[in-house]
Order: sequence, then structure tokens, then C-alpha cells
Amino acid sequence: MTDNARPLALVTGASSGIGANLARELARDGHDLVLAARRVEPMRILAEELKAAGARCTIVAADLSKSGAAAALVRELETQGLSVDVLINNAGLGINGRFDTSDPLRVAEILQVNVVALTELTRLLLPSMVKRRKGKVMLVASTAAFQPGPQMAVYCASKTYVLSFGEAIAYELRGVSVTTLCPGATDTEFADVAEAGSSALFKGLLPVMDAKEVARIGYQGLKAGRGVVITGLLNKVMATSSRLSPTPVSIRIANWMMSAGK
Ligand SMILES: NC(=O)c1ccc[n+]([C@@H]2O[C@H](COP(=O)([O-])OP(=O)(O)OC[C@H]3O[C@@H](n4cnc5c(N)ncnc54)[C@H](OP(=O)(O)O)[C@@H]3O)[C@@H](O)[C@H]2O)c1
Repeated sequence: MTDNARPLALVTGASSGIGANLARELARDGHDLVLAARRVEPMRILAEELKAAGARCTIVAADLSKSGAAAALVRELETQGLSVDVLINNAGLGINGRFDTSDPLRVAEILQVNVVALTELTRLLLPSMVKRRKGKVMLVASTAAFQPGPQMAVYCASKTYVLSFGEAIAYELRGVSVTTLCPGATDTEFADVAEAGSSALFKGLLPVMDAKEVARIGYQGLKAGRGVVITGLLNKVMATSSRLSPTPVSIRIANWMMSAGK
């Protein structure tokens, strides 16, 4: 706990989309915040808004695609005397297209942000929560975690890692909950960043959910200490079908969803 007795939540990827909305949920429910991402200006604006809800906000500019960024972020928190009660590993990105023609630097960036930084940050911040037998961790995965995804191979594999990692450490831990949030298509900057805006998935094949609603559902799951939270009924049905279908079937559907309409 922080000295003012409001629990402190660290949200990565707080400069937009689901992360910014999770920060709003946390502030409304009595948390102070550490907001981390590369773009500082949107986090400044968000911090002003959250102050009105009584939340003290600390902004940390962090590029989690850089090796050692998670450790640097944790050092910064220690320097400022901040102890994290709730860790929201939300920062993430994808890229649409065939793997053999993808930009190798972008591939490395996706792995570093979605997998390495998420794992390192969790490893570095968990022990003090475990010691206190108190704390909550959220890992933002995706419904992309439930099957291989041609046209988004690295992204889907990275989210399969997040889901597997989250479920495993949730099983290991007592006193600290780990919630893996699996949104389906959500209206944020994600599709533009991933150049996936014209794929069937983001062209209304399934309803594209509002980031506010995704964050609300995710936060309720985190609060209740649930292990895996899939947002929306249709996404639950799709994820469950993917888990139960033979891979040759689910992979064809995933390929169609990511490439149709391009
Ligand atoms: N939108 C969807 O359809 C969807 C579906 C399932 C899962 N998700 C997952 O939800 C999470 C949030 O994404 P979103 O939909 O809210 O997309 P978004 O609006 O693009 O937000 C992504 C966030 O990640 C941060 N980020 C990206 N690269 C970073 C880096 N190198 N260092 C630090 N922060 C970085 C961005 O901040 P800066 O650019 O300021 O650094 C931004 O705040 C991601 O993990 C994504 O994979 C999204």
C-alpha cells in the first residue's frame, strides 16, 4: 500500500484505448495511478481527468520495446518511493500481413512489448505482492490467444503466450490474483497501428466493442479475482469454439477473419 492508503495501480499502455479506460475504472474505484507509455501528452490529459476523481497520478515515459525497459520502469518507481498494489500489463501491438514479408524490427518490437516486458514487469513486481499476500495482476491477452492466426502470426502467438503464462502463474499463486483479459475486436488505435483496419475482423464481421465497455468488464473480473475474462458473449462463444475445434478448422477461420476484405 502507498502511504496515503489508496492502493496504487500501474497501467502500461495508458496513453490510449483499453489502458486509458482501465485507468479510469481504477481511479473511480479509489486507486492512485502510475501511467506508463511512450506518449506523455495523452497521459497528462488523462491524469488531469483522473485527479478530478481524487486519484494521484504519476506519469512515466517508458518505451517497453527497448531491452531493459521494464527494469528501468521499476527502478523509477522505487526512486519515487512507489509500491505497486495492482499491475495492469496492457501495452501491446500487432501487425497484419504475411510473416515472411513482415518488418523484422516490428516483429522484435511486438515480442519485446507483448511478451518480454510483460513477463519482466510481472517478475519484478510480484514478489512484494506475494510477500504481503495482497495484490492483483492483469495481463491483457486477446481472443487471438485461442488459435494460431495466419496474417497475424506473431501477434496471435504472443497472446497465446500471455494466456498460457497468466493461467499458469494464477495457479501457482495464493493471495495474489492474476486475471488474463481476452478482448475481441475493440475500437481503439490498435487496428490502425496493426494495419488491420480493413480486415473482416474490424469491418463488422463481429461487433467491434467499445474500449470503455471492455475496460469495465475487465475491471470487474480483476476485482473479483477471476482467472480468464473474455469480453462479450460472442467473443466467449468464438474463443470456446476455437479451443474445441481441430486446429485445421480454427486456423482457416482465423485466416479468413484477418484477411477478408483486404
Ligand atoms: N483493440 C483490439 O481489438 C484488441 C483486441 C484484443 C486485445 N487487445 C490488446 O489490448 C491492449 C491495449 O491495446 P488497445 O486496443 O487499447 O490499443 P491502443 O489504443 O493502440 O493502445 C496500445 C497502448 O500500448 C502502448 N504501447 C505500444 N507500444 C508501446 C511501447 N513500445 N512502449 C510502451 N507502451 C507501448 C501505447 O502507448 P504509446 O504508443 O504511447 O507508447 C498504447 O497506450 C494490447 O495489449 C492489445 O494487444 C486489443
